[in-house]
Amino acid sequence: MIARKKGMIWMKAKIIDGKAVAARVKNEVKNEAERLRQNGIVPGLAVVLVGDDPASAIYVEGKKKACAQCCIRSFEYVLDKSVNREVLLELVGKLNNDPKVSGILIQSPLPEQIDESEIIAAISPEKDVDAFHARNVGKIMIGKFDFLPCTPSGIMELIADSGIKVEGAGCVVVGRSNIVGKPMAMLLLHKHGTVTICHSRTKDLASLCREADILVAAAGKPKIITADMVKPGAAVIDVGIHRLAAADSNGKKICGDVDFDAVSEVAGYITPVPGGVGPMTIAMLMKNTVTAAKLQSVNH
Ligand code: GUN
Repeated sequence: MIARKKGMIWMKAKIIDGKAVAARVKNEVKNEAERLRQNGIVPGLAVVLVGDDPASAIYVEGKKKACAQCCIRSFEYVLDKSVNREVLLELVGKLNNDPKVSGILIQSPLPEQIDESEIIAAISPEKDVDAFHARNVGKIMIGKFDFLPCTPSGIMELIADSGIKVEGAGCVVVGRSNIVGKPMAMLLLHKHGTVTICHSRTKDLASLCREADILVAAAGKPKIITADMVKPGAAVIDVGIHRLAAADSNGKKICGDVDFDAVSEVAGYITPVPGGVGPMTIAMLMKNTVTAAKLQSVNH
């Protein structure tokens, strides 16, 4: 890893611009979607929102807007939070069989009466643009996948775009969720990183983090990564997004898992929150939807 040192003066970390990289990816997806349309294939994404969680509603709006930007049709289904499993399973079955729907996204979290894993298992693997289905998770494990989960693949895109070398790098992933931590570790491993996964029971998190050339913070805890936990020159990727009850000393009300101001004095590269990983998640969802449309045109 290149320590960003000029003469004897340490420079601040380079800020990785997720919005700019996401715009580039979405533009590539749009060009591909237009090319498919000329061949009679119209990519379409069905987004299912259950309940009235305000954060989920904002994410769903963002996904619909991105579809419009990328020449992808979007279909929105809003169900009451009291919905039962039969109704949801029936909808998934209908979407699985609808040729206009290339990708299906069930916005999580689902209400507690619903077993999320049962719903994910019912999605046709070739329409599973989140790559949450066990078949797709298994394919990622063996490195022969059709889709990659959106947040980890967006992070790999940011790392590549910044010219950060993964091969041989010490990579530490903080967090072990099925959506981010576990697949993130696998993607870094595929690119020949030496990967450590840390979690809430890890002993001496700080010293493990300090070994990282690439540190991915996906713990879901505000500002858990502090400057003393970061190797000088490391690339720090922040997956967290938290709304603070009151503005911090810099007047900011949103923060990530990383103490951005202090860590950017030490790191070589850092993603901001917002404007880092978040926009990439949606861009990669668009990419997966076009991939799904192509897969289905070949398979049917
Ligand atoms: N809720 C928060 N992030 C995600 C995501 O990436 N996919 C789905 N389906 N739900 C989410």
